[in-house]
Amino acid sequence: MNLALPAAQGRSGHLYESLAAEIANMIGAGVIKSGEKLPSIRKLSTQRDVSLSTVMQAFRVLEDRGLIEVRPQSGFFVRRQLLRQPPTISAPPPQPTLVAIDDVRRRILQETRKENGMALGAALIDPTLFPNQALQRLLSGITRRQPELIGSYAIPPGRIELRRQLARRSLEWGGELDPEQLVITSGCIESLHLALRAVTQPGDVVAIESPVYYGILNLLEALGLKAMEIPTHPQTGMSVDALELATRNGSVKAVLVVANYGNPLGSLMPDANKQRLVQLMAERGIPLIEDEIYGDFYHGTERPTPLKGFDSGGNVLLCSSFSKVLAPGFRVGWVAAGRYQRRVEALKAITTMSTPEMLQLTLAQFLEGGGYDHHLRRLRRACVDQVHAMFDAVCRHFPPEAKVSLPQGGYVLWVELPQQVDTVRLLQVALAEGISFAPGVLFSSTPGQYAHCLRLSAGGRWRPEVAQALARLGQLLQQHMHG
Ligand SMILES: Cc1ncc(COP(=O)(O)O)c(C=O)c1O
Repeated sequence: MNLALPAAQGRSGHLYESLAAEIANMIGAGVIKSGEKLPSIRKLSTQRDVSLSTVMQAFRVLEDRGLIEVRPQSGFFVRRQLLRQPPTISAPPPQPTLVAIDDVRRRILQETRKENGMALGAALIDPTLFPNQALQRLLSGITRRQPELIGSYAIPPGRIELRRQLARRSLEWGGELDPEQLVITSGCIESLHLALRAVTQPGDVVAIESPVYYGILNLLEALGLKAMEIPTHPQTGMSVDALELATRNGSVKAVLVVANYGNPLGSLMPDANKQRLVQLMAERGIPLIEDEIYGDFYHGTERPTPLKGFDSGGNVLLCSSFSKVLAPGFRVGWVAAGRYQRRVEALKAITTMSTPEMLQLTLAQFLEGGGYDHHLRRLRRACVDQVHAMFDAVCRHFPPEAKVSLPQGGYVLWVELPQQVDTVRLLQVALAEGISFAPGVLFSSTPGQYAHCLRLSAGGRWRPEVAQALARLGQLLQQHMHG
């Protein structure tokens, strides 16, 4: 691509501004298309006869304006999100509801978890993207050298070797987690379960995002808690303004947030909002539970900071696991519960007591050996490609009215369709053809909410069959809308 237009100076006289304006015009006119790669900084600097820093500044301006995005080791691209409008900010009912998942939703969940056909519903990664053999070698070495691990178990908080590695990794986001403040769990769901039990009583109200991951709704139901759904923006996450209002009268006893790449929206809360949220909850004395399971799954160049990174008083309970990024089958997670740590530890002891030590040691050795970052880079690259391929296919095959999210991390896409669409009925038709997805009704405690939305998972490897399934789903959707 040649961007060798005459170099003109911008109104304020800065060369980088006029370069940015010219590129913006070319994007607007469709000369450079959504998803297309821009020339490298070096090439553009030669073509335009300007310095490297001028080009870099121009790219920064375009990035800030949301027109282009950087992809690690690949360069600058015109943002794909320009192809389609993102979904709108949600508007859930303003009252809390006792969560009761009905039979229809329970059946849908079972159906979308089945692995036959083209399963685009469950948020699972293709198992071949994990370093299974390396982990298997470490595990067999450990059980060979320490067979006594099969004949015993330890009390919480879990193996210090793994807690040390997790603490070391927190340096990456500027955190200083203390290994002594971590409790190892059996997956993020157990982490959230323990955190909720540590800070709530049955009947309490918990503020959550809307739409929200259905595993969180299942937990609230099992614990007899009420959900207060808070409007959530597809790009910036839970509205802190709305939460501020909702937590004014003291009825909300805990807040549970996925600030880094929420599921199903893929939203990323900006740092300023994170800071305000953490401060607000500390001031109001409301414990803040953070589900950080997707934090390592960023698509850009930098890992986002968890809410915990803004917490100085121990009010944030950070919950996470290795289920999305390394070893779903191990079911190993953790909680950094701040001032609730002793309570979480005691609750772990009376629920599942111990998470298999040989699995904890395997993960600790894998992290210590330095293979984790290399693996994460590969995994992220594969998933970004899969997400983009799915986004492009949805844009191509779904009706133009469909609004589609382009996640900034993780690998799920949220599709908002015209109000008359009923994605549960669409699912029934799709299932008959072996295609599944997660209909929107799964993501709210209010029956019928998000009935016109659906979530697609791009965790599987991109294959012609996936493209065909999306094309067919687009046709079924057209028939549903116009039939
Ligand atoms: C936001 C979120 N939290 C927690 C989980 C479950 O984590 P785990 O399998 O470690 O229990 C998921 C799984 O999809 C998720 O999307």
